[in-house]
Amino acid sequence: MEFVEQLKSQIDIVQVIGESVRLRRVGAGPRYTGLCPFHNEKTPSFSVHAQHQFYKCFGCGAGGDVIKFVMEIDSLPFWEAVKYLAERHGIPLPKRSEAADEETRRRGVLYEMHELALEHFRQTLFGPGGEEARGYLQRRGGTREVAEEFGLGLSESLPASATRLLQRRNYAPADLEASGLVLLRNDGSGFFDRFRYRLMFPIHSEMGKVIGFGGRALAEGDEPKYLNSSETPIYRKSHVLYNLNRARKVVQEAGYGVLVEGYMDVIGVYAAGVRNVVATCGTALTAAQVRCLKRHAASVVVNFDPDNAGAQATERSSQVLLEEGVRLKVLQLSGGLDPDEYIKAHGAATYLQALEGARGYFHWLADRARGRFDTKTPEGKVAVFQFLLPAIHRMPEKIDRLSVANDLAEYMGIGQGMVLDEFRKAAAERREQKNRAREDNVLDPNEVLLLHALMSSAEARAELAPALRTMEGVRRFRSARVFETILRLAESGAEVTLSAVEARLDESGRALLLGVLLDDELLREGVSMEQASACLRRMSAGEHRLGRDHLRHLIRDAERAGQMEEALRLMSELQELEREG
Ligand code: UTP
Ligand code: MN
Repeated sequence: MEFVEQLKSQIDIVQVIGESVRLRRVGAGPRYTGLCPFHNEKTPSFSVHAQHQFYKCFGCGAGGDVIKFVMEIDSLPFWEAVKYLAERHGIPLPKRSEAADEETRRRGVLYEMHELALEHFRQTLFGPGGEEARGYLQRRGGTREVAEEFGLGLSESLPASATRLLQRRNYAPADLEASGLVLLRNDGSGFFDRFRYRLMFPIHSEMGKVIGFGGRALAEGDEPKYLNSSETPIYRKSHVLYNLNRARKVVQEAGYGVLVEGYMDVIGVYAAGVRNVVATCGTALTAAQVRCLKRHAASVVVNFDPDNAGAQATERSSQVLLEEGVRLKVLQLSGGLDPDEYIKAHGAATYLQALEGARGYFHWLADRARGRFDTKTPEGKVAVFQFLLPAIHRMPEKIDRLSVANDLAEYMGIGQGMVLDEFRKAAAERREQKNRAREDNVLDPNEVLLLHALMSSAEARAELAPALRTMEGVRRFRSARVFETILRLAESGAEVTLSAVEARLDESGRALLLGVLLDDELLREGVSMEQASACLRRMSAGEHRLGRDHLRHLIRDAERAGQMEEALRLMSELQELEREG
Protein backbone atom coordinates (compact mmCIF):
# COMPACT_ATOMS: atom_id res chain seq x y z
CA MET A 1 0.00 0.00 0.00
CA GLU A 2 1.19 3.47 -0.74
CA PHE A 3 2.44 5.26 2.36
CA VAL A 4 -0.25 7.90 2.33
CA GLU A 5 -3.03 5.32 2.18
CA GLN A 6 -1.35 3.39 4.94
CA LEU A 7 -1.08 6.52 7.06
CA LYS A 8 -4.74 7.35 6.52
CA SER A 9 -5.77 3.85 7.49
CA GLN A 10 -3.91 4.15 10.78
CA ILE A 11 -5.30 7.42 12.01
CA ASP A 12 -8.82 8.37 12.89
CA ILE A 13 -10.15 11.52 11.29
CA VAL A 14 -12.63 11.99 14.12
CA GLN A 15 -9.83 12.16 16.64
CA VAL A 16 -7.65 14.49 14.55
CA ILE A 17 -10.45 16.93 13.77
CA GLY A 18 -11.67 16.63 17.33
CA GLU A 19 -8.51 18.40 18.43
CA SER A 20 -9.47 21.55 16.54
CA VAL A 21 -13.26 21.33 16.53
CA ARG A 22 -15.70 20.31 19.23
CA LEU A 23 -17.50 17.33 17.72
CA ARG A 24 -20.68 15.65 18.85
CA ARG A 25 -21.71 12.20 17.72
CA VAL A 26 -25.06 11.97 15.97
CA GLY A 27 -26.98 9.16 17.62
CA ALA A 28 -25.03 5.94 17.63
CA GLY A 29 -24.01 6.26 13.98
CA PRO A 30 -20.69 7.00 12.31
CA ARG A 31 -21.40 10.70 11.87
CA TYR A 32 -20.19 13.57 14.05
CA THR A 33 -21.08 17.24 13.79
CA GLY A 34 -19.66 20.53 14.99
CA LEU A 35 -19.20 24.16 14.08
CA CYS A 36 -17.27 24.52 10.86
CA PRO A 37 -13.75 25.89 11.39
CA PHE A 38 -13.63 27.18 7.82
CA HIS A 39 -16.48 29.63 7.94
CA ASN A 40 -18.42 31.61 10.43
CA GLU A 41 -21.49 29.84 11.80
CA LYS A 42 -23.72 29.52 14.81
CA THR A 43 -25.33 26.16 14.14
CA PRO A 44 -23.30 23.16 13.01
CA SER A 45 -23.26 22.31 9.34
CA PHE A 46 -19.92 20.56 9.58
CA SER A 47 -19.86 16.75 9.57
CA VAL A 48 -17.18 14.15 10.06
CA HIS A 49 -17.84 10.64 8.87
CA ALA A 50 -16.04 7.99 10.88
CA GLN A 51 -16.66 5.10 8.53
CA HIS A 52 -15.72 6.77 5.27
CA GLN A 53 -13.16 9.01 7.00
CA PHE A 54 -14.05 12.32 5.46
CA TYR A 55 -15.37 15.70 6.57
CA LYS A 56 -17.81 17.96 4.81
CA CYS A 57 -19.38 21.31 5.53
CA PHE A 58 -22.75 22.00 3.97
CA GLY A 59 -22.42 25.65 4.82
CA CYS A 60 -19.24 26.52 2.98
CA GLY A 61 -18.57 23.38 0.97
CA ALA A 62 -15.23 22.57 2.58
CA GLY A 63 -14.56 18.86 2.60
CA GLY A 64 -12.02 16.11 2.15
CA ASP A 65 -9.90 13.57 3.99
CA VAL A 66 -7.79 13.94 7.09
CA ILE A 67 -4.77 15.21 5.17
CA LYS A 68 -6.82 17.87 3.45
CA PHE A 69 -8.12 18.95 6.83
CA VAL A 70 -4.64 19.47 8.25
CA MET A 71 -3.55 21.24 5.06
CA GLU A 72 -6.47 23.64 5.30
CA ILE A 73 -6.41 24.34 8.99
CA ASP A 74 -2.64 24.92 9.19
CA SER A 75 -2.11 26.18 5.63
CA LEU A 76 0.38 23.38 5.05
CA PRO A 77 1.36 21.83 1.76
CA PHE A 78 0.49 18.21 1.21
CA TRP A 79 3.72 16.63 2.34
CA GLU A 80 4.08 18.77 5.41
CA ALA A 81 0.57 17.75 6.44
CA VAL A 82 1.51 14.10 5.91
CA LYS A 83 4.69 14.54 7.89
CA TYR A 84 2.85 16.26 10.70
CA LEU A 85 0.27 13.48 10.93
CA ALA A 86 2.88 10.74 10.77
CA GLU A 87 4.95 12.32 13.51
CA ARG A 88 1.95 13.01 15.72
CA HIS A 89 0.91 9.37 15.50
CA GLY A 90 4.36 7.81 15.82
CA ILE A 91 4.20 6.40 12.32
CA PRO A 92 7.68 6.31 10.79
CA LEU A 93 8.04 8.09 7.49
CA PRO A 94 9.45 5.82 4.80
CA LYS A 95 13.26 5.70 5.14
CA ARG A 96 15.55 7.38 2.64
CA SER A 97 12.54 8.43 0.68
CA GLU A 98 13.72 11.81 -0.44
CA ALA A 99 10.98 11.67 -3.00
CA ALA A 100 8.39 11.34 -0.28
CA ASP A 101 9.58 14.58 1.20
CA GLU A 102 10.28 16.33 -2.06
CA GLU A 103 7.88 19.14 -1.44
CA THR A 104 9.33 19.95 1.97
CA ARG A 105 12.84 19.94 0.54
CA ARG A 106 11.78 22.20 -2.28
CA ARG A 107 10.10 24.65 0.05
CA GLY A 108 13.30 24.86 2.05
CA VAL A 109 15.26 25.62 -1.10
CA LEU A 110 12.75 28.24 -2.23
CA TYR A 111 12.90 30.08 1.10
CA GLU A 112 16.67 30.14 0.75
CA MET A 113 16.52 31.51 -2.80
CA HIS A 114 14.14 34.26 -1.75
CA GLU A 115 16.49 35.30 1.05
CA LEU A 116 19.35 35.47 -1.43
CA ALA A 117 17.28 37.46 -3.90
CA LEU A 118 16.16 39.89 -1.21
CA GLU A 119 19.75 40.59 -0.23
CA HIS A 120 20.76 40.92 -3.86
CA PHE A 121 17.97 43.43 -4.60
CA ARG A 122 18.83 45.49 -1.51
CA GLN A 123 22.47 45.69 -2.44
CA THR A 124 21.54 46.77 -5.93
CA LEU A 125 19.27 49.54 -4.63
CA PHE A 126 21.93 50.94 -2.34
CA GLY A 127 24.79 50.25 -4.75
CA PRO A 128 26.12 52.44 -7.55
CA GLY A 129 23.46 51.34 -10.05
CA GLY A 130 20.66 52.29 -7.69
CA GLU A 131 20.94 56.03 -7.82
CA GLU A 132 17.99 56.67 -10.08
CA ALA A 133 15.75 54.31 -8.13
CA ARG A 134 16.79 55.89 -4.84
CA GLY A 135 15.83 59.24 -6.31
CA TYR A 136 12.43 57.89 -7.31
CA LEU A 137 11.87 56.51 -3.83
CA GLN A 138 12.91 59.80 -2.27
CA ARG A 139 10.54 61.78 -4.47
CA ARG A 140 7.78 59.50 -3.25
CA GLY A 141 8.71 60.19 0.36
CA GLY A 142 10.41 56.87 1.03
CA THR A 143 13.18 57.48 3.53
CA ARG A 144 16.20 55.24 4.00
CA GLU A 145 14.64 53.89 7.22
CA VAL A 146 11.41 52.98 5.45
CA ALA A 147 13.35 51.26 2.70
CA GLU A 148 15.33 49.29 5.29
CA GLU A 149 12.29 48.37 7.34
CA PHE A 150 10.37 47.07 4.32
CA GLY A 151 13.40 45.43 2.75
CA LEU A 152 12.93 47.38 -0.46
CA GLY A 153 15.31 46.64 -3.30
CA LEU A 154 15.99 47.02 -6.97
CA SER A 155 16.17 44.37 -9.63
CA GLU A 156 18.88 45.03 -12.20
CA SER A 157 18.11 45.83 -15.79
CA LEU A 158 20.43 43.01 -16.92
CA PRO A 159 18.60 40.04 -18.41
CA ALA A 160 20.06 37.45 -16.05
CA SER A 161 21.37 39.03 -12.88
CA ALA A 162 19.35 37.16 -10.26
CA THR A 163 19.59 34.11 -12.52
CA ARG A 164 23.39 34.16 -12.36
CA LEU A 165 23.35 34.70 -8.62
CA LEU A 166 21.19 31.61 -8.12
CA GLN A 167 23.03 29.52 -10.67
CA ARG A 168 26.31 30.17 -8.89
CA ARG A 169 24.75 28.36 -5.95
CA ASN A 170 24.12 25.31 -8.11
CA TYR A 171 20.41 25.02 -7.60
CA ALA A 172 18.77 22.38 -9.75
CA PRO A 173 17.01 23.77 -12.84
CA ALA A 174 13.68 22.40 -11.62
CA ASP A 175 14.07 24.29 -8.35
CA LEU A 176 15.04 27.44 -10.21
CA GLU A 177 11.94 27.21 -12.31
CA ALA A 178 9.72 26.51 -9.31
CA SER A 179 11.01 29.61 -7.50
CA GLY A 180 9.22 31.99 -9.86
CA LEU A 181 12.21 34.31 -9.60
CA VAL A 182 13.48 33.27 -13.01
CA LEU A 183 11.74 32.24 -16.19
CA LEU A 184 12.64 29.55 -18.69
CA ARG A 185 13.40 30.85 -22.16
CA ASN A 186 10.90 29.82 -24.79
CA ASP A 187 13.41 27.62 -26.57
CA GLY A 188 14.28 26.00 -23.23
CA SER A 189 17.92 27.01 -23.57
CA GLY A 190 18.21 28.63 -20.17
CA PHE A 191 16.76 31.07 -17.67
CA PHE A 192 16.31 34.82 -17.43
CA ASP A 193 15.17 37.16 -14.65
CA ARG A 194 11.48 37.61 -13.99
CA PHE A 195 11.99 41.07 -12.50
CA ARG A 196 14.02 43.62 -14.43
CA TYR A 197 14.64 47.17 -13.37
CA ARG A 198 11.82 47.31 -10.87
CA LEU A 199 11.56 48.65 -7.35
CA MET A 200 11.21 45.46 -5.35
CA PHE A 201 8.76 45.01 -2.47
CA PRO A 202 9.39 41.75 -0.63
CA ILE A 203 6.24 39.93 0.47
CA HIS A 204 6.51 38.11 3.79
CA SER A 205 4.49 35.28 5.30
CA GLU A 206 2.76 36.05 8.56
CA MET A 207 5.71 34.47 10.36
CA GLY A 208 8.09 36.80 8.53
CA LYS A 209 9.65 34.65 5.82
CA VAL A 210 10.17 36.18 2.39
CA ILE A 211 7.88 34.27 0.05
CA GLY A 212 7.50 36.53 -2.97
CA PHE A 213 7.96 39.97 -4.47
CA GLY A 214 6.00 42.76 -6.03
CA GLY A 215 8.01 44.85 -8.46
CA ARG A 216 7.07 48.37 -9.54
CA ALA A 217 8.17 49.47 -12.98
CA LEU A 218 10.59 52.37 -12.94
CA ALA A 219 11.11 52.91 -16.64
CA GLU A 220 8.52 54.99 -18.45
CA GLY A 221 6.02 52.82 -20.33
CA ASP A 222 7.14 49.57 -18.73
CA GLU A 223 4.11 47.30 -18.36
CA PRO A 224 2.58 46.15 -16.11
CA LYS A 225 2.98 48.85 -13.48
CA TYR A 226 3.33 46.19 -10.82
CA LEU A 227 4.63 42.74 -11.58
CA ASN A 228 4.00 40.19 -8.84
CA SER A 229 5.50 36.81 -8.04
CA SER A 230 3.54 33.90 -9.41
CA GLU A 231 2.09 31.26 -7.10
CA THR A 232 4.82 28.93 -5.91
CA PRO A 233 5.00 26.17 -3.32
CA ILE A 234 5.80 28.84 -0.71
CA TYR A 235 3.46 31.57 -1.96
CA ARG A 236 -0.31 31.20 -1.98
CA LYS A 237 -1.60 34.60 -2.98
CA SER A 238 -5.08 34.11 -1.65
CA HIS A 239 -3.76 33.43 1.85
CA VAL A 240 -1.23 36.24 2.21
CA LEU A 241 -1.66 39.86 3.24
CA TYR A 242 1.12 42.31 2.55
CA ASN A 243 2.69 43.64 5.77
CA LEU A 244 0.74 41.36 8.13
CA ASN A 245 4.06 40.17 9.58
CA ARG A 246 4.85 43.69 10.79
CA ALA A 247 1.27 44.77 11.44
CA ARG A 248 -0.24 41.88 13.33
CA LYS A 249 0.88 42.83 16.82
CA VAL A 250 -0.38 46.39 16.36
CA VAL A 251 -3.62 45.08 14.83
CA GLN A 252 -4.16 43.12 18.03
CA GLU A 253 -3.41 46.10 20.24
CA ALA A 254 -5.53 48.52 18.24
CA GLY A 255 -8.39 46.05 17.87
CA TYR A 256 -8.63 46.75 14.15
CA GLY A 257 -6.68 46.60 10.93
CA VAL A 258 -6.56 49.13 8.09
CA LEU A 259 -6.95 47.61 4.65
CA VAL A 260 -5.53 49.55 1.70
CA GLU A 261 -5.07 48.69 -1.97
CA GLY A 262 -1.40 48.97 -2.74
CA TYR A 263 2.16 48.37 -1.58
CA MET A 264 2.94 52.10 -1.63
CA ASP A 265 -0.20 52.84 0.37
CA VAL A 266 0.88 50.39 3.06
CA ILE A 267 4.29 51.96 3.24
CA GLY A 268 2.96 55.52 3.30
CA VAL A 269 0.37 54.79 5.98
CA TYR A 270 2.86 52.77 8.03
CA ALA A 271 5.48 55.50 7.83
CA ALA A 272 2.84 57.99 8.99
CA GLY A 273 2.60 56.01 12.21
CA VAL A 274 -0.46 53.89 11.49
CA ARG A 275 1.26 50.54 11.66
CA ASN A 276 -1.76 48.22 11.69
CA VAL A 277 -2.08 48.47 7.92
CA VAL A 278 -2.21 45.64 5.35
CA ALA A 279 -3.04 45.12 1.67
CA THR A 280 -3.68 42.30 -0.73
CA CYS A 281 -0.95 41.80 -3.32
CA GLY A 282 -2.69 42.62 -6.56
CA THR A 283 -5.67 40.25 -6.10
CA ALA A 284 -9.22 40.60 -4.82
CA LEU A 285 -9.66 40.09 -1.09
CA THR A 286 -10.41 36.47 -0.17
CA ALA A 287 -12.15 34.87 2.80
CA ALA A 288 -8.86 33.18 3.72
CA GLN A 289 -7.15 36.56 4.00
CA VAL A 290 -9.99 37.93 6.09
CA ARG A 291 -9.65 34.99 8.43
CA CYS A 292 -5.92 35.67 8.82
CA LEU A 293 -6.76 39.22 9.83
CA LYS A 294 -9.65 38.17 12.02
CA ARG A 295 -7.41 36.00 14.12
CA HIS A 296 -5.91 39.29 15.32
CA ALA A 297 -8.86 41.70 15.49
CA ALA A 298 -12.61 41.81 14.92
CA SER A 299 -12.76 45.14 13.04
CA VAL A 300 -11.41 46.51 9.79
CA VAL A 301 -11.28 49.97 8.24
CA VAL A 302 -11.25 49.78 4.46
CA ASN A 303 -9.36 52.67 2.87
CA PHE A 304 -9.22 52.17 -0.88
CA ASP A 305 -8.66 54.67 -3.66
CA PRO A 306 -11.49 57.22 -3.81
CA ASP A 307 -12.22 56.64 -7.51
CA ASN A 308 -15.03 54.53 -8.87
CA ALA A 309 -12.86 51.42 -9.16
CA GLY A 310 -11.86 51.88 -5.53
CA ALA A 311 -15.51 52.20 -4.47
CA GLN A 312 -16.39 49.04 -6.34
CA ALA A 313 -13.45 47.23 -4.77
CA THR A 314 -14.68 48.50 -1.40
CA GLU A 315 -18.09 46.95 -1.98
CA ARG A 316 -16.60 43.67 -3.17
CA SER A 317 -14.17 43.40 -0.27
CA SER A 318 -16.88 44.41 2.15
CA GLN A 319 -19.02 41.47 1.08
CA VAL A 320 -16.24 39.12 2.01
CA LEU A 321 -15.56 40.91 5.28
CA LEU A 322 -19.24 40.97 6.26
CA GLU A 323 -19.69 37.31 5.45
CA GLU A 324 -16.82 36.52 7.79
CA GLY A 325 -18.53 38.53 10.52
CA VAL A 326 -16.00 41.38 10.60
CA ARG A 327 -17.11 44.81 11.84
CA LEU A 328 -16.52 47.27 9.11
CA LYS A 329 -15.83 50.94 8.54
CA VAL A 330 -14.96 52.78 5.36
CA LEU A 331 -12.58 55.68 5.03
CA GLN A 332 -13.00 57.61 1.83
CA LEU A 333 -10.40 60.32 1.50
CA SER A 334 -11.21 63.65 -0.08
CA GLY A 335 -9.61 65.21 -3.12
CA GLY A 336 -9.39 62.03 -5.13
CA LEU A 337 -6.19 61.02 -3.36
CA ASP A 338 -5.13 57.51 -2.43
CA PRO A 339 -3.83 57.03 1.14
CA ASP A 340 -0.20 57.40 0.12
CA GLU A 341 -0.83 60.62 -1.79
CA TYR A 342 -3.14 61.99 0.89
CA ILE A 343 -0.54 61.63 3.60
CA LYS A 344 2.04 63.28 1.42
CA ALA A 345 -0.32 66.18 0.73
CA HIS A 346 -1.88 66.68 4.17
CA GLY A 347 0.47 65.06 6.66
CA ALA A 348 0.10 62.19 9.06
CA ALA A 349 -1.98 64.04 11.65
CA THR A 350 -4.73 64.89 9.17
CA TYR A 351 -4.78 61.32 7.96
CA LEU A 352 -5.13 60.07 11.53
CA GLN A 353 -8.05 62.39 12.05
CA ALA A 354 -9.70 61.13 8.91
CA LEU A 355 -9.13 57.56 10.07
CA GLU A 356 -10.77 58.25 13.40
CA GLY A 357 -13.73 59.74 11.59
CA ALA A 358 -14.17 56.70 9.33
CA ARG A 359 -17.86 55.84 9.01
CA GLY A 360 -19.73 52.62 9.37
CA TYR A 361 -19.86 50.67 6.15
CA PHE A 362 -23.64 50.90 5.91
CA HIS A 363 -23.71 54.66 6.26
CA TRP A 364 -21.15 54.86 3.48
CA LEU A 365 -23.22 52.51 1.36
CA ALA A 366 -26.42 54.44 2.16
CA ASP A 367 -24.80 57.64 0.96
CA ARG A 368 -23.73 55.94 -2.23
CA ALA A 369 -27.31 54.78 -2.72
CA ARG A 370 -28.76 58.24 -2.03
CA GLY A 371 -27.28 59.37 -5.31
CA ARG A 372 -29.42 56.87 -7.19
CA PHE A 373 -32.80 57.47 -5.58
CA ASP A 374 -34.81 60.52 -4.67
CA THR A 375 -34.56 60.39 -0.91
CA LYS A 376 -36.86 63.33 -0.34
CA THR A 377 -39.84 61.07 -0.91
CA PRO A 378 -40.75 58.22 1.44
CA GLU A 379 -40.70 55.84 -1.55
CA GLY A 380 -37.14 56.90 -2.31
CA LYS A 381 -36.07 56.23 1.24
CA VAL A 382 -37.63 52.81 1.15
CA ALA A 383 -35.89 52.14 -2.14
CA VAL A 384 -32.53 52.96 -0.58
CA PHE A 385 -33.29 50.74 2.36
CA GLN A 386 -34.22 47.88 0.07
CA PHE A 387 -31.06 48.47 -1.90
CA LEU A 388 -29.09 48.01 1.32
CA LEU A 389 -30.91 44.89 2.49
CA PRO A 390 -28.82 42.30 0.62
CA ALA A 391 -25.65 43.67 2.19
CA ILE A 392 -27.26 43.65 5.62
CA HIS A 393 -28.24 40.06 5.12
CA ARG A 394 -24.63 39.10 4.44
CA MET A 395 -23.92 39.42 8.12
CA PRO A 396 -24.02 35.99 9.70
CA GLU A 397 -25.43 37.17 13.04
CA LYS A 398 -29.10 38.02 13.24
CA ILE A 399 -28.49 40.42 16.08
CA ASP A 400 -25.99 42.40 13.97
CA ARG A 401 -28.48 42.53 11.12
CA LEU A 402 -31.18 43.94 13.35
CA SER A 403 -28.96 46.49 14.97
CA VAL A 404 -27.62 47.71 11.64
CA ALA A 405 -31.14 47.90 10.21
CA ASN A 406 -32.37 49.98 13.12
CA ASP A 407 -29.37 52.22 12.93
CA LEU A 408 -29.93 52.75 9.22
CA ALA A 409 -33.62 53.47 9.70
CA GLU A 410 -32.65 56.26 12.01
CA TYR A 411 -29.96 57.50 9.65
CA MET A 412 -32.35 57.54 6.73
CA GLY A 413 -35.24 58.93 8.72
CA ILE A 414 -37.62 56.05 8.18
CA GLY A 415 -39.84 54.36 10.75
CA GLN A 416 -38.75 51.28 12.68
CA GLY A 417 -42.01 49.57 11.82
CA MET A 418 -41.11 49.60 8.18
CA VAL A 419 -37.69 48.18 8.90
CA LEU A 420 -39.25 45.25 10.68
CA ASP A 421 -41.72 44.73 7.84
CA GLU A 422 -38.95 44.68 5.28
CA PHE A 423 -36.99 42.32 7.46
CA ARG A 424 -39.87 39.93 7.79
CA LYS A 425 -40.43 39.98 4.06
CA ALA A 426 -36.78 39.35 3.37
CA ALA A 427 -36.64 36.55 5.92
CA ALA A 428 -39.69 34.88 4.37
CA GLU A 429 -38.15 35.20 0.94
CA ARG A 430 -34.91 33.69 2.12
CA ARG A 431 -36.76 30.77 3.67
CA GLU A 432 -38.62 30.18 0.45
CA GLN A 433 -35.44 30.33 -1.56
CA LYS A 434 -33.86 27.83 0.76
CA ASN A 435 -36.82 25.50 0.42
CA ARG A 436 -36.71 25.82 -3.32
CA ALA A 437 -33.02 25.05 -3.32
CA ARG A 438 -33.73 22.07 -1.12
CA GLU A 439 -36.40 20.82 -3.52
CA ASP A 440 -34.00 21.20 -6.41
CA ASN A 441 -31.57 19.13 -4.46
CA VAL A 442 -33.93 16.34 -3.58
CA LEU A 443 -32.86 13.02 -4.96
CA ASP A 444 -35.10 10.10 -5.79
CA PRO A 445 -35.25 7.85 -2.69
CA ASN A 446 -34.25 4.95 -4.92
CA GLU A 447 -31.07 6.62 -5.98
CA VAL A 448 -30.11 7.55 -2.43
CA LEU A 449 -30.58 4.00 -1.27
CA LEU A 450 -28.77 2.47 -4.21
CA LEU A 451 -25.80 4.80 -3.88
CA HIS A 452 -25.47 3.90 -0.24
CA ALA A 453 -25.58 0.23 -1.11
CA LEU A 454 -23.04 0.63 -3.92
CA MET A 455 -20.57 2.37 -1.63
CA SER A 456 -21.05 -0.13 1.19
CA SER A 457 -19.35 -3.26 -0.18
CA ALA A 458 -17.87 -5.08 -3.16
CA GLU A 459 -20.55 -7.78 -2.80
CA ALA A 460 -23.29 -5.23 -3.14
CA ARG A 461 -21.64 -3.80 -6.22
CA ALA A 462 -21.25 -7.22 -7.81
CA GLU A 463 -24.88 -8.00 -7.17
CA LEU A 464 -26.38 -4.69 -8.22
CA ALA A 465 -24.18 -3.67 -11.12
CA PRO A 466 -25.65 -5.85 -13.92
CA ALA A 467 -29.22 -4.70 -13.26
CA LEU A 468 -28.22 -1.07 -12.86
CA ARG A 469 -26.40 -1.20 -16.15
CA THR A 470 -29.55 -2.11 -18.08
CA MET A 471 -31.88 0.30 -16.38
CA GLU A 472 -33.07 3.37 -18.19
CA GLY A 473 -34.10 5.03 -14.91
CA VAL A 474 -30.53 5.13 -13.65
CA ARG A 475 -29.58 7.33 -16.54
CA ARG A 476 -32.30 9.74 -15.51
CA PHE A 477 -31.06 10.04 -11.91
CA ARG A 478 -29.60 13.39 -10.94
CA SER A 479 -26.60 11.42 -9.76
CA ALA A 480 -26.37 9.42 -13.00
CA ARG A 481 -22.74 10.39 -13.44
CA VAL A 482 -21.89 9.27 -9.93
CA PHE A 483 -23.44 5.87 -10.64
CA GLU A 484 -21.56 5.63 -13.90
CA THR A 485 -18.30 6.50 -12.15
CA ILE A 486 -18.74 3.92 -9.42
CA LEU A 487 -19.80 1.19 -11.82
CA ARG A 488 -16.95 1.88 -14.18
CA LEU A 489 -14.44 1.88 -11.36
CA ALA A 490 -15.80 -1.40 -10.04
CA GLU A 491 -15.73 -2.96 -13.50
CA SER A 492 -12.13 -1.89 -14.02
CA GLY A 493 -11.25 -4.08 -11.04
CA ALA A 494 -9.91 -1.12 -9.05
CA GLU A 495 -10.74 -0.72 -5.40
CA VAL A 496 -13.85 1.41 -4.90
CA THR A 497 -12.97 3.75 -2.09
CA LEU A 498 -14.56 7.09 -1.46
CA SER A 499 -11.38 8.93 -2.40
CA ALA A 500 -11.04 6.96 -5.64
CA VAL A 501 -14.60 7.81 -6.63
CA GLU A 502 -14.28 11.44 -5.56
CA ALA A 503 -11.14 11.86 -7.59
CA ARG A 504 -13.12 11.02 -10.70
CA LEU A 505 -16.02 13.36 -10.00
CA ASP A 506 -16.46 17.08 -10.49
CA GLU A 507 -17.44 19.45 -7.70
CA SER A 508 -21.19 18.90 -8.04
CA GLY A 509 -20.80 15.13 -8.27
CA ARG A 510 -18.72 15.09 -5.11
CA ALA A 511 -21.27 17.21 -3.28
CA LEU A 512 -24.07 14.86 -4.35
CA LEU A 513 -22.23 11.76 -3.23
CA LEU A 514 -21.12 13.17 0.12
CA GLY A 515 -24.62 14.46 0.74
CA VAL A 516 -26.06 11.01 0.16
CA LEU A 517 -23.50 9.29 2.36
CA LEU A 518 -24.30 11.65 5.21
CA ASP A 519 -28.03 10.88 5.13
CA ASP A 520 -28.78 10.35 8.81
CA GLU A 521 -31.56 7.86 8.52
CA LEU A 522 -29.69 5.54 6.19
CA LEU A 523 -26.59 5.83 8.33
CA ARG A 524 -28.52 4.76 11.39
CA GLU A 525 -30.40 1.95 9.73
CA GLY A 526 -27.85 0.83 7.18
CA VAL A 527 -28.93 -0.45 3.79
CA SER A 528 -29.53 -4.17 3.46
CA MET A 529 -29.19 -6.11 0.25
CA GLU A 530 -32.90 -6.94 0.44
CA GLN A 531 -33.74 -3.24 0.45
CA ALA A 532 -31.47 -2.61 -2.48
CA SER A 533 -32.94 -5.49 -4.47
CA ALA A 534 -36.49 -4.38 -3.66
CA CYS A 535 -35.52 -0.98 -4.90
CA LEU A 536 -34.31 -2.42 -8.19
CA ARG A 537 -37.50 -4.46 -8.56
CA ARG A 538 -39.63 -1.37 -7.98
CA MET A 539 -37.73 0.57 -10.55
CA SER A 540 -37.78 -2.15 -13.12
CA ALA A 541 -41.52 -2.74 -12.63
CA GLY A 542 -42.01 0.97 -13.16
CA GLU A 543 -39.98 0.88 -16.32
CA HIS A 544 -41.92 -2.09 -17.64
CA ARG A 545 -45.17 -0.42 -16.88
CA LEU A 546 -44.03 2.69 -18.69
CA GLY A 547 -42.88 0.55 -21.55
CA ARG A 548 -46.22 -1.22 -21.78
CA ASP A 549 -48.21 2.02 -21.66
CA HIS A 550 -46.05 3.38 -24.38
CA LEU A 551 -46.60 0.31 -26.55
CA ARG A 552 -50.36 0.49 -26.12
CA HIS A 553 -50.29 4.06 -27.35
CA LEU A 554 -48.25 3.09 -30.36
CA ILE A 555 -50.59 0.24 -31.18
CA ARG A 556 -53.63 2.49 -31.08
CA ASP A 557 -51.91 5.06 -33.25
CA ALA A 558 -50.92 2.38 -35.76
CA GLU A 559 -54.45 1.00 -35.86
CA ARG A 560 -55.94 4.45 -36.44
CA ALA A 561 -53.49 5.05 -39.22
CA GLY A 562 -54.46 1.72 -40.72
CA GLN A 563 -50.95 0.30 -40.39
CA MET A 564 -52.10 -3.16 -39.40
CA GLU A 565 -48.80 -4.90 -39.89
CA GLU A 566 -47.04 -2.45 -37.62
CA ALA A 567 -49.85 -2.79 -35.06
CA LEU A 568 -49.52 -6.57 -35.05
CA ARG A 569 -45.76 -6.40 -34.61
CA LEU A 570 -46.21 -4.07 -31.63
CA MET A 571 -48.84 -6.34 -30.12
CA SER A 572 -46.54 -9.29 -30.11
CA GLU A 573 -43.90 -7.13 -28.48
CA LEU A 574 -46.42 -6.19 -25.78
CA GLN A 575 -47.33 -9.84 -25.17
CA GLU A 576 -43.68 -10.59 -24.78
CA LEU A 577 -43.33 -7.92 -22.12
CA GLU A 578 -46.41 -9.08 -20.25
CA ARG A 579 -45.12 -12.65 -20.13
CA GLU A 580 -41.91 -11.36 -18.52
CA GLY A 581 -44.12 -9.77 -15.85
P1 UTP B 1 -2.44 51.15 -8.04
O1 UTP B 1 -2.44 51.22 -9.51
O2 UTP B 1 -3.46 51.93 -7.26
O3 UTP B 1 -0.99 51.46 -7.60
O4 UTP B 1 -2.56 49.62 -7.65
P2 UTP B 1 -0.43 52.30 -6.38
O5 UTP B 1 -0.31 51.43 -5.21
O6 UTP B 1 -1.16 53.57 -6.22
O7 UTP B 1 1.02 52.50 -6.95
P3 UTP B 1 1.76 53.81 -7.33
O8 UTP B 1 1.41 54.79 -6.27
O9 UTP B 1 1.31 54.23 -8.70
O10 UTP B 1 3.17 53.34 -7.32
C1 UTP B 1 -2.77 49.20 -6.35
C2 UTP B 1 -2.18 47.83 -6.17
O11 UTP B 1 -2.68 46.94 -7.13
C3 UTP B 1 -1.70 46.01 -7.53
C4 UTP B 1 -0.50 46.31 -6.67
O12 UTP B 1 -0.54 45.50 -5.50
C5 UTP B 1 -0.69 47.76 -6.34
O13 UTP B 1 0.02 48.14 -5.19
N1 UTP B 1 -1.35 46.15 -8.95
C6 UTP B 1 -1.53 47.33 -9.61
C7 UTP B 1 -0.82 45.08 -9.60
O14 UTP B 1 -0.63 44.02 -9.01
N2 UTP B 1 -0.45 45.21 -10.91
C8 UTP B 1 -0.61 46.36 -11.60
O15 UTP B 1 -0.23 46.45 -12.77
C9 UTP B 1 -1.18 47.44 -10.92
MN1 MN C 1 -0.47 55.33 -5.40
